[in-house]
Amino acid sequence: MATVSGLEGVVAGETEIGLVDGEKGYLVYRGYWAKELAISRSYEEVAYLLWNGHLPSSEELEMLKLEMAAARAMPEYLCRIVDLLPASVPMMLVLQSTVAALGEQGNATWPPTLRQAVRLTALLPSIIAYRYRRLKGLPIVEPLPELGHAANYLYMLNGQIPEEAHVQALSAYLILCMEHGMNASTFAGRVVLSTESDMCAAVCGAIGAMKGPLHGGAPSEVISMLADIGTKERAEPWIREVLDKGGKIMGFGHRIYKTKDPRAEALKIATEEMIGKDPSFDVAIHVEHTAIRLLEEYKPGRRLFTNVEFYAAAILQALELDPEIFTPTFTSGRIVGWTSHILEQAANNRIFRPQSIYTGPMPEGEF
Ligand code: ACO
Repeated sequence: MATVSGLEGVVAGETEIGLVDGEKGYLVYRGYWAKELAISRSYEEVAYLLWNGHLPSSEELEMLKLEMAAARAMPEYLCRIVDLLPASVPMMLVLQSTVAALGEQGNATWPPTLRQAVRLTALLPSIIAYRYRRLKGLPIVEPLPELGHAANYLYMLNGQIPEEAHVQALSAYLILCMEHGMNASTFAGRVVLSTESDMCAAVCGAIGAMKGPLHGGAPSEVISMLADIGTKERAEPWIREVLDKGGKIMGFGHRIYKTKDPRAEALKIATEEMIGKDPSFDVAIHVEHTAIRLLEEYKPGRRLFTNVEFYAAAILQALELDPEIFTPTFTSGRIVGWTSHILEQAANNRIFRPQSIYTGPMPEGEF
C-alpha cells in the first residue's frame, strides 16, 4: 500500500457543490462560473445557491434576508463569552470558541440543518465586529435590518453606512471565498461531521484548519510582505533573499491550480474597478510579475502563480480592514461552502476512516 503525501490527488468524495479545475483555471458553483456570480449577484443569492442548489426566486431571497437579519444580533451570553477571552486570543480562536458556545439552542443536533447553517453564517460577521470594536475600545454597533450581509459587516466594523462600491467589492471577495472543493478546512469540517457530530463542532474543526498560514492565514502575511518591499525597486532583491533561504513567497502556489487562480484574477479586476487604483496597487502588480518570474527561475516546472490570498490582501487593505481580521473575513465567506458540504455529507454519510502505515518498532518476542 502506498502513502500519498498530503493526500495529493486522492479523491475523498463526490460533491454537487463546486468544481475546481486547476489545469483550466475553472471555478464553478453549482453550474455557474464563480467569477460571474461574484460580479452579478449578492452574498445572499450565492449563499442560497450553494445551500439549495438553485438561485433563489425573489420571494425565496426575501425570506433568506429576513432569516439572516433576525439571526444577526449577538445573544447576550455570547457577548459575555467574548468579553471573558483575553485580548491575546487570536480572532480565529475567538470564532472557534463562540461557534462552539453556539452548540446550545438546538444547534448541536444530528442531522445538521439548513437553519443552523443560515444562523452561523449570519452571526459570524457580528462576532468579528463585536470583538474587533471591543478590543479597540469602541462602542458596539448593532446590525441594521435594512442592510444586506456585506454592507452590515462593514457597518458593524466601522459604524458608518458603507459606500456602495465598497459593499460590492467586499461582496465579490466573500463570494469568491465561499467554495473551493475539498480544501483543507472543508475536508476537516466533513471529517468531523462524518462521526455524526454536529454543525457547530464541524465548523469549529474547519475554522481550526483555516487558521494556518498555508491555508487562510496567508493574506496578512502578504500585507507584511508588500509593506516590507515598499517600492518596485526593492521587489526583486527582497524576493531573491527569501527564495535563497528556501522560504516561501506568500500568496503564490496552490495544490490544485497550475495556472493562475481565477479568484486572484477576478479580485484584481474587482479591486481596480470598484475601488480605483490604490497607490500601493502598482507595487503589488509589480511584485506579482517579479515573483512569478523568480519562482520559475528558482522552482522550474512547479508552475507557481498568484493564488487568491495575494489580491485578497490588496482588496481588504483597500477596504481599510485591519490585517488581523483578514482571515476571519475570509472565514465569513467560506462558512457558506463549509455548511453546504456539511449538509451534503450528512445527507449521505459514511464515517471517514483512512489507513496509515505503521513505521515504528514492533515489540520484542512472540505475540
Ligand atoms: N514560494 C516558494 N516556493 C513555493 C511556494 C511559494 N509560495 N509554493 C510552493 N513552492 C515550492 C515548494 O517549496 C516545493 O518546492 P520543491 O519541489 O523544491 O520541494 C514546490 O513548490 C511544490 O510546493 P508544495 O509545497 O509541495 O505544494 P503544496 O501543494 O504542498 O502546497 C501551498 C500548496 C501550501 C499553497 C504552497 O504553495 C504554499 O505554501 N504557498 C504559500 C502560502 C499561501 O499562499 N497559502 C495560501 C493558499 S490559498 C488558500 O489556501 C486559500
